[in-house]
Amino acid sequence: MLELKDVHVVHKARSGGVFSRDRVYALTGANLTVEQGETVGVVGESGCGKSTLARVLVGLQRPTSGSVAFRGRDLWALRERERRELVGSSVGMVFQDPSTALNRRLPIRQILRDPLNVHRRGTPAARDARVRELLDLVGLPAGVADALPAQLSGGQRQRVAVARALALEPELLIADEPTSALDVSVRAQILNLLLELKERLGLALVFVSHDIQTVRRMSDRVITMYLGRIVEQTPAPAVPLGARHPYTRALFSATPGLISPINPIPLVGAVPSATRPPSGCPFRTRCWRADDVCAAEWPDAGNGDGHLFHCHHPVAAGATDLELIQERS
Ligand SMILES: Nc1ncnc2c1ncn2[C@@H]1O[C@H](COP(=O)(O)OP(=O)(O)OP(=O)(O)O)[C@@H](O)[C@H]1O
Ligand SMILES: [Mg+2]
Repeated sequence: MLELKDVHVVHKARSGGVFSRDRVYALTGANLTVEQGETVGVVGESGCGKSTLARVLVGLQRPTSGSVAFRGRDLWALRERERRELVGSSVGMVFQDPSTALNRRLPIRQILRDPLNVHRRGTPAARDARVRELLDLVGLPAGVADALPAQLSGGQRQRVAVARALALEPELLIADEPTSALDVSVRAQILNLLLELKERLGLALVFVSHDIQTVRRMSDRVITMYLGRIVEQTPAPAVPLGARHPYTRALFSATPGLISPINPIPLVGAVPSATRPPSGCPFRTRCWRADDVCAAEWPDAGNGDGHLFHCHHPVAAGATDLELIQERS
């Protein structure tokens, strides 16, 4: 359905001042496909490029190079109007913070009608009916239509944001940290809503979250990112012990899971700057398995059964955290 080929996103550095030539390598050489109906989870430390990837997937961020194709059509080869029409009607996006994502001057009815108006869907009466249907779909009472965003709770606002993303019946929903601005008590409700809608509507879902255990539970496939690179794509049932990239193993070892107690695999040093990513494999400066080859070349994807990992020295499938910790010392 959606295919990224060798996508790079390079920003001008924000910190460097007007005359700075510093570049931020936000996304580097990303290859990714999303199939109909599947859930893809994206994990990685802050600043690794998750939101950049999400914005590329919904056509909000133009790649510096590489291609983004939706159902075989190259988004950035289209005219702006065609691109908006195609993306707007096929891909929905839910952002982290519902209070900034919704126009606070507009009643919910207007917020939900807006995409229908813009894309000229149905008669005015049909649009009103669709608004009621959308509220119902996300579990909100019809009376909410007349409220302003500020009159709703955070969880209700995020439901409105989900409803708006679904207004044009997209085939794909991208959710970038959809629960991190919410109270812990309502997070599970929003996640369950997304899962339920995905089942009911047959949506594909790309889900970005810091909560990697949730990602593992919700997804069919887990994408690990590090410093702008997709370093591994693991079928979710194989996570964590079947993951082969040392970084994926370290990331999952640092959070309590169902299978293993916390045995964090220690990583040395800080994440390098995205302005000057290390040569070869960007993780090599913190990796206990790295050697000269890792500094020289970005590894091609090793693969098997829908599992891709970019590593010269992948860990053995099934190795325990303790074994990896011992191997380090
Ligand atoms: N518009 C921009 N201009 C300059 N640099 C940017 C811009 N947007 C993002 N970046 C930089 O690109 C890199 C990737 O950012 P991105 O927001 O994609 O990371 P992230 O994984 O979503 O982080 P977080 O988990 O904190 O949300 C970071 O180094 C960030 O500072
Ligand atoms: Mg982000």
